[in-house]
Amino acid sequence: MKSVIVAPSILAADFADLRKEVGSVLEAGAEYIHVDVMDGQFVPNISIGIPVVQSLRRAFPAAFLDVHLMISAPGRYVEAFCRAGASHLTLHVEADRPENITAALERIRQLGVRTGLAVKPATGADALTPWLEELDMALVMTVEPGFGGQRFMTDQMPKVAAVRAALDRVNPACDVEVDGGIDRGTAPVAIGAGANVLAAGSAVFGAKDRADIIRALRCSG
Ligand code: DX5
Ligand code: ZN
Repeated sequence: MKSVIVAPSILAADFADLRKEVGSVLEAGAEYIHVDVMDGQFVPNISIGIPVVQSLRRAFPAAFLDVHLMISAPGRYVEAFCRAGASHLTLHVEADRPENITAALERIRQLGVRTGLAVKPATGADALTPWLEELDMALVMTVEPGFGGQRFMTDQMPKVAAVRAALDRVNPACDVEVDGGIDRGTAPVAIGAGANVLAAGSAVFGAKDRADIIRALRCSG
């Protein structure tokens, strides 16, 4: 079994104090920093973008920046995010035509950055099939993308299991990330279904003891 990686989502952090917030979760043991990018078009919310990735890279040269693009036609911006310092870039399969998704993933790889592809709750596991062999991570959304603090969708667990099983056949090294509503109660459910990367916003940044919650999430499998 793969070891579990915790990726606190800075969407739940205090943006006025981002250096301190990110520093605190890294110190508390987080392996990744999950950065949610929203364009107000692919999802009905606007968050942060390229300059924030750049500042985080400068402030934390060794941090693993797990960047989740919830933007339409993401190929337009993959180069800028890679150059800004993303360690990993996840696109949504629903965000463009298949040929453009293929081209965007290729460009990310050329730039030496890890690739990910995400599916919204209404999208089936099969949508990922054409790209499974080339991915470093598949992301199964466990809430409707756009906002933190929503309720975990248990009905996505068969999809997590299906994606994990398909990857085991063609690309066993690939990780499966879940994102949305992850907390002490839901983390074991997601891990049990086959996830090994946990993006968690409110649960981590809202916790009194961040080291404790990160440890609990990681060990809940
Ligand atoms: C939702 C984002 C998530 C979000 C998770 O669109 O992709 O990463 O920050 O937040 P919580 O953990 O609060 O559900
Ligand atoms: Zn996310």
